[in-house]
Amino acid sequence: MGINAHAKVLKLEPVTLSKTMSAPTLQLEKVTRTFQQGEQEISVLKQVSLIIQPGEIVALVGASGAGKTTLLQVAGLLELPTAGSIRMSDHVCEQLDDNARTLLRRQYIGFVYQFHHLLPEFSALENVMLPQLIAGASKAAAKLEAEAFLERMGLSHRLSHRPKKLSGGEQQRVAIARALVNKPRILLADEPTGNLDDETAQTVFEEMLTLVRNTGLSALIATHNLELAQKMDRTVKLQGGVLSDL
Ligand SMILES: Nc1ncnc2c1ncn2[C@@H]1O[C@H](COP(=O)(O)OP(=O)(O)OP(=O)(O)O)[C@@H](O)[C@H]1O
Ligand SMILES: [Mg+2]
Repeated sequence: MGINAHAKVLKLEPVTLSKTMSAPTLQLEKVTRTFQQGEQEISVLKQVSLIIQPGEIVALVGASGAGKTTLLQVAGLLELPTAGSIRMSDHVCEQLDDNARTLLRRQYIGFVYQFHHLLPEFSALENVMLPQLIAGASKAAAKLEAEAFLERMGLSHRLSHRPKKLSGGEQQRVAIARALVNKPRILLADEPTGNLDDETAQTVFEEMLTLVRNTGLSALIATHNLELAQKMDRTVKLQGGVLSDL
């Protein structure tokens, strides 16, 4: 499927985003997430509350299995909480239907995962154009913007490469450009450099933080690396399902 056809399948009419820039970007209130494991119920998140203000960059740490991915999935409207409330600016997310949630997610949130999740059949440039085409941009405008973001990630010489022809660090740089190109209000990143060697991780992480700070958006970034966490504005820790400031 060509890039335009791919975008068309995923297109929905945009929603009107709240203009209240002073409201917190993301607000979780007493969010609980339980999983049913046979007879047993596992509480991964227990009444988790978190407020992220506009422009604030927050590190999320916790041992493996502590629930970082679960928290990001719920905050990113990919999973529903078992109880509790999620607000983005003044949208109360649990009151939205599936379509409205999808639209809010696309306009409001940029995601970066540990593994890049780029589309293998498209070039770096096309991967960054795609979210813009889905949002209704023209091909020419999407191309210009994708080139600009890839340039900011130092990838001007890799525009026509497909993901498998890129190094791990380059793949994550493309994924970061793709997450930010539609100018979301918040970046949610799940161990975005967890797959890279230490030196590359450090460089890519700093590039990502610079781009986030320069764009003025908020971020919630899960990491195992406390040194990287210290580069953010503050750190919260998940332990035993409870979230607290570190
Ligand atoms: N769909 C599911 N069904 C049942 N249990 C689940 C499901 N998803 C996650 N869990 C459980 O929730 C707990 C938290 O998992 P999660 O992936 O959120 O942890 P994490 O902090 O991201 O770990 P890691 O650092 O290894 O990525 C784990 O015990 C996991 O087994
Ligand atoms: Mg995880």
